[in-house]
Amino acid sequence: MFLDPEHLDTAQTLDLFRSLKLVHLAATGDDGPVLRTVHPIVYEGELYFHGAPRGEKMELLGQPAMITCEDVLATIPSSWIHPERACPATSYFLSAHARGTLEGVDDLRVKAAVLQQMMADYQPEGGHRPITAADPMYAAAVRGIAVVKLAGATLVGRRKVGQNRPAETRQAVMRHLWTRGQGNDLRAIDAMIDAEPTQLPAFLSGPARERLAVSPTAADLEGAVNLLVQHSYWYNHDVREVATRAHRGSCAWVVAREGDQVVGTARAVGDNARFAYVMDVCVRPESRGRGLATRLMELLLDHPAIRQCQRVELHTRDAMRVYERLGFGPLVDPDWRVAMRLVRAA
Ligand SMILES: CC(C)(COP(=O)(O)OP(=O)(O)OC[C@H]1O[C@@H](n2cnc3c(N)ncnc32)[C@H](O)[C@@H]1OP(=O)(O)O)[C@@H](O)C(=O)NCCC(=O)NCCS
Repeated sequence: MFLDPEHLDTAQTLDLFRSLKLVHLAATGDDGPVLRTVHPIVYEGELYFHGAPRGEKMELLGQPAMITCEDVLATIPSSWIHPERACPATSYFLSAHARGTLEGVDDLRVKAAVLQQMMADYQPEGGHRPITAADPMYAAAVRGIAVVKLAGATLVGRRKVGQNRPAETRQAVMRHLWTRGQGNDLRAIDAMIDAEPTQLPAFLSGPARERLAVSPTAADLEGAVNLLVQHSYWYNHDVREVATRAHRGSCAWVVAREGDQVVGTARAVGDNARFAYVMDVCVRPESRGRGLATRLMELLLDHPAIRQCQRVELHTRDAMRVYERLGFGPLVDPDWRVAMRLVRAA
């Protein structure tokens, strides 16, 4: 597969538009340039937005237009590159633009599907009746809201994540991002590796061909939950939704991938100061016995949200060796007379 370090492919570009809830629309109106903010909707590989039927944007129908977006990942101080020289500071980001012609959508079925897609993206938890053109509750709204397509769009997605820097500088930047661990720093690390997968820093290399990732994606979430449901003794198929929520709600979660497949996962919850609790450590059977769980655990314990916690606990039935090697010992605490717990029904 050809990997282009500078450009995102079409799917990644559309994902970028989908992940950003506000983007910019630029066109030329009767009175000159127009720049507006719109909610992007990606439906069947095309870009849409919605608006008031008599709004200013509707006067642009039939005009060429661009929709642009950017996702700022991290600021990179010059001191990470050179101890004295301001070279200068920069930021890493993903960006995209789509160029096409603005076309009003009249087909009520397509309008409803686009608006429903917007609901799925903006309100994934549901809590509403799906929008269809045939539903009397929505008929007037679907007719009344304007839906606009960027027709015939050409898409260009870019990443600027230090690809032009020498490998050792990139490794140093990844280390710094991991140490700082704020905002989107961990996403920036994974974006840097996506751009140059062969330049994996030591702290993200698995014992064999695995790549450790510190900012798991939606695909990783599905992979990790599948792994746990199939290969752990504490989950079963009934708790897929709970496992998904638990991973989303964890302050630290790392995975090991081989190709696109998740082969190991570990997560923790904590307060970033006094206490953290490790859960859901699992490695697929074919990858066991060569230190992958140990690597995942080392990474998890060094995670920016966990590394300052004074006390880290876990429960295990039989895999004590993995944890003992990392300094864990049995929990015997004379100050804690009674351990109490509250178990709520699932
Ligand atoms: C436990 C698990 C994560 C270990 O993954 P791994 O990648 O094989 O672990 P590592 O290679 O880093 O470490 C392996 C060590 O742990 C020990 N170990 C692993 N699983 C064990 C088990 N079930 N019982 C006893 N020891 C175990 C191995 O004997 C080995 O020790 P050694 O190197 O001294 O011989 C993996 O077996 C697994 O996913 N099991 C099912 C889920 C599970 O039990 N998770 C842990 C719950 S806390």
